[in-house]
Amino acid sequence: MRLFNLNMRSILMGLATVLTALPSVLRADCTRDGLLSTASAFVSAVISGSVSTLPSATNFTYQENNKALTLSKGVFGSVIKVDLNRSTADTVACASYTMIISTSGSKPYVLATQIRHEGNDTGKVLMIDTIAATTGSLFFNASLTLSYIKAEDWTALPAASQPSRSLLQKAGDGYLDMWTDAKAADTIPWGTNCERVEGSRLTKPCGGSLPHGGSANKNDDRRYVIDEVMGSVDVLCAFNSLGNMPDSHNIRLVDGKVKYVHTITKVGS
Ligand SMILES: *[C@@H]1O[C@H](CO)[C@@H](O)[C@H](O)[C@H]1NC(C)=O
Ligand SMILES: *[C@@H]1O[C@H](CO)[C@@H](O)[C@H](O)[C@H]1NC(C)=O
Ligand SMILES: *[C@@H]1O[C@H](CO)[C@@H](O)[C@H](O)[C@H]1NC(C)=O
Ligand SMILES: *[C@@H]1O[C@H](CO)[C@@H](O)[C@H](O)[C@H]1NC(C)=O
Repeated sequence: MRLFNLNMRSILMGLATVLTALPSVLRADCTRDGLLSTASAFVSAVISGSVSTLPSATNFTYQENNKALTLSKGVFGSVIKVDLNRSTADTVACASYTMIISTSGSKPYVLATQIRHEGNDTGKVLMIDTIAATTGSLFFNASLTLSYIKAEDWTALPAASQPSRSLLQKAGDGYLDMWTDAKAADTIPWGTNCERVEGSRLTKPCGGSLPHGGSANKNDDRRYVIDEVMGSVDVLCAFNSLGNMPDSHNIRLVDGKVKYVHTITKVGS
């Protein structure tokens, strides 16, 4: 019996070795832990100014404020002191979203970063896509933003109250459509105690005085990170309705209703 167990064990170990050696095509799962661990490695790299050393895919690209850029020429080319970081994970798109607030470095920043992976492999970063707001951006005051964001509750939602992926995407799209579609605001499930932090401007509750169309220019180039566990959707976009501004809208739904909205909008060059 013991001998049999040992044999089975060595067979299984041999099998594991073979599977590890096969191309990543067979490793089809993109896990939440993998995404969050890379997001955490990214935050550590931001702090030490070493983002370019993250394990990247052959066709890695960096984008900052909706434009392709060499990593070292953008915000991550210098060390950044991180006062707050918060990440969400999208196992279907194999992407993560990280918010970073920095108040006390040489330049203050509020950063929205989506990281996309190649072939469901959280060990291979295909794209880093960042909206970088600093002094001069819309309602910018990093210390004030930090005070609001820090006070929020972002504990994971119990399985029974997690919104569906489609509801989250609808909330994100509905929000961005409000400027071009007069009916969009009414499709959003506003929570009675929802809070909107636009740059550093707090509005509470957030479901009143909303735009009802009026612009002909759709907010487009939308990139999504949808996390059912956190009830979060982050959409990076070109905010065209009020002028072409690189933008991030992050919405959290709790009990199926909007609880938080964060907007990070880059203004100026
Ligand atoms: C990011 O924030 C969390 C707290 O939300 C903290 O535990 C973590 O250490 C921070 N840093 C990194 C590198 O993930
Ligand atoms: C990288 O991009 C090139 C050129 O578009 C393409 O031919 C190649 O297949 C890509 N590599 C991977 C691993 O996707
Ligand atoms: C990634 O995972 C998703 C969901 O499990 C699957 O539908 C997709 O085919 C996978 N993609 C690759 C490239 O393995
Ligand atoms: C940010 O807001 C705080 C609180 O209102 C204020 O004390 C501070 O002067 C502001 N900072 C800047 C750079 O405007």
